[in-house]
Amino acid sequence: MVTAEQLQHHLDNCLTGTQIEGLGDFYKGKVRDNYSTDDGRRILVTTDRQSAFDRNLGLIPLKSQALTQLSSWWFEHTKDIVKNHVIEVPDPCIVIGKNVKTIPIEMVIRGYLSGSTGTSSWMAYHNGERTYCGHTLPEGMLKNQKFENPLITPTTKDDIHDENIDFFTVVESGLVDPALWEQMVDVTYKLFERGQQLAAKGGLILVDTKYEFGVDEEGKLVLIDEIHTSDSSRFWKADTYQALIADGKEPENFDKEFLRLWFRDRCDPYNDENLPEMPDEFRIEVALRYIETYERITGEAFQMPESSVQERVVGVLEGLR
Ligand SMILES: Nc1ncnc2c1ncn2[C@@H]1O[C@H](COP(=O)(O)OP(=O)(O)O)[C@@H](O)[C@H]1O
Ligand SMILES: [Mg+2]
Repeated sequence: MVTAEQLQHHLDNCLTGTQIEGLGDFYKGKVRDNYSTDDGRRILVTTDRQSAFDRNLGLIPLKSQALTQLSSWWFEHTKDIVKNHVIEVPDPCIVIGKNVKTIPIEMVIRGYLSGSTGTSSWMAYHNGERTYCGHTLPEGMLKNQKFENPLITPTTKDDIHDENIDFFTVVESGLVDPALWEQMVDVTYKLFERGQQLAAKGGLILVDTKYEFGVDEEGKLVLIDEIHTSDSSRFWKADTYQALIADGKEPENFDKEFLRLWFRDRCDPYNDENLPEMPDEFRIEVALRYIETYERITGEAFQMPESSVQERVVGVLEGLR
């Protein structure tokens, strides 16, 4: 078990970002630094940058490692369902993937009526909507209640802000070819089911998540980006869930929702120009959650770094040139 005391020593040991000359075409994402190489690889460096509300909120120590290692574990444990992009994991913070043509839809799948952001199912339901991304929702559902069957609620991929789209019009809109769409839907249900089963072994509920896909040169569907991390998914603690929601309280979060709630309590994160700075104790608490999620799901002990993460990662990247 990693302790707050241990993390105290790593508050400044954050991976802020990289930009290595001569490694490949550089794209700085919200969280990841991407390098596309001439020979068709995509080097994804997850940083410790924390994003939410489409904004950068600061740095969370060891987040990169916790997320990258968790995602790698999931890729390994779902590769029988769908091909994925992973070629190699040369560092706990770096994945080398096959660079593929991305499909411009994010496959969001939701097991529970939840969320607090504008695009979430709960906000729509709460505002009286009973059709959500084309799905009809029954009357009388409680916040955070489980759906009878998980809902796929796709969004269009956009640089600034993702938009929900109707599940039944994706093909009509010409964004995805029908046969490919059918396969994406099938794979999304299977991945989510696997995710829920394996998360449950670690005492967690996989509430919702999103998958990104691409197509390789043979036209095959490939799972890209990251899978079932605390950045792309919501996790709740399973053993306290029932009692808390019956009481009208929020489930115990193991993901970004915890962070979102913290900001919401203190500011208007979509509109305020300046957001409050995360205090050290809070950064540690967020980091501990990311690490605990990794440990619960994989059953493996998180290995604390022994040197500067930034220097180590830059060193590995330089060696890849
Ligand atoms: N194997 C891959 N091939 C092509 N693009 C990929 C692959 N894996 C991930 N990506 C893309 O790389 C980017 C990852 O960086 P991220 O920090 O998530 O950026 P963003 O802020 O754009 O979401 C995403 O745009 C994602 O779609
Ligand atoms: Mg992303």
